[in-house]
This record gives sequence, structure tokens and C-alpha cells, in this order.
Amino acid sequence: MMYSEKVMDHFANPRNVGEIPDADGVGEVGNAKCGDIMKMYFKIDGDVITDVRFKTFGCGAAIATSSMATEMIKGRTIEEALQLSNKAVMEALDGLPPVKVHCSVLAEQAVKATLADYYRRQGIDPEPIVGKLEEVDHDHGEEEE
Ligand code: FES
Repeated sequence: MMYSEKVMDHFANPRNVGEIPDADGVGEVGNAKCGDIMKMYFKIDGDVITDVRFKTFGCGAAIATSSMATEMIKGRTIEEALQLSNKAVMEALDGLPPVKVHCSVLAEQAVKATLADYYRRQGIDPEPIVGKLEEVDHDHGEEEE
């Protein structure tokens, strides 16, 4: 299996690892098939995500995609973060092997789950904003959009 240099870099030196004790939103997603789990913490000021941390108990690609995803949304607005697709994360990493595409889906879902938690804490139903969060349960090797 071939990984790009960027994937190897984010796997070996993941950015934004850790947790935020007084986070404004915390989201956790998992993939039932591989058992990998991703947890994200956001600090949000107004509509800007000012700080992001994550913990990923999973494969190298899951660590690399969560690292890249946190880099891509830090300092951005909630709206921009909601538009972050797993495809954009993969592109920023110069691609992933097909069997690892689902790992990037986990990163996209973790961002959305964290924002959903943020809205829930405000007493706002997140579903119309964040969309329905599907259970992440994809077959390994399956192509995601
Ligand atoms: Fe399942 Fe990477 S997240 S193998």
C-alpha cells in the first residue's frame, strides 16, 4: 500500500492532537467495521472555530486525515467547516489508497458530529444545519463519494 508523503507526514507528526477541557463542542464517531474511533473538540467564538483538537484511536490514514481536517478548519467559520468534504481532505493529502477512503469519511463525520454537539448545547436542533449524521459503517475498500 502506497501513501503520499503528506499522509506519512501527518501520520508521523499529527497536528492538533489532544483535547480541549472547556470545549464548546465535542464529537465522536466510529467505524463499526474497523473499530476505529475519532474524537474532536472545538472552541467556537461567534461563528469562528478558534481552536481544534482531536484524538484518533485508529489506523494511520485515520490519524492523517483527522490531522489534516483539523488544520483545514482551524480559524475558519462553522459554515466553511460544514462544507469540508472527505474528498477535499484526501486531495489536501495528495490522495489515499482506495481501501483507506473510509478513513477520510470518518474525519468529515467527526467535524460534523462536533458541530452537531455545539448546536445541541445551544438548544438548537443540529439536523437541519449539519444534516443527518449517518452511522459510519462502510465496507473497507468501498469507494465513497
Ligand atoms: Fe478504519 Fe482507517 S478508519 S481502517
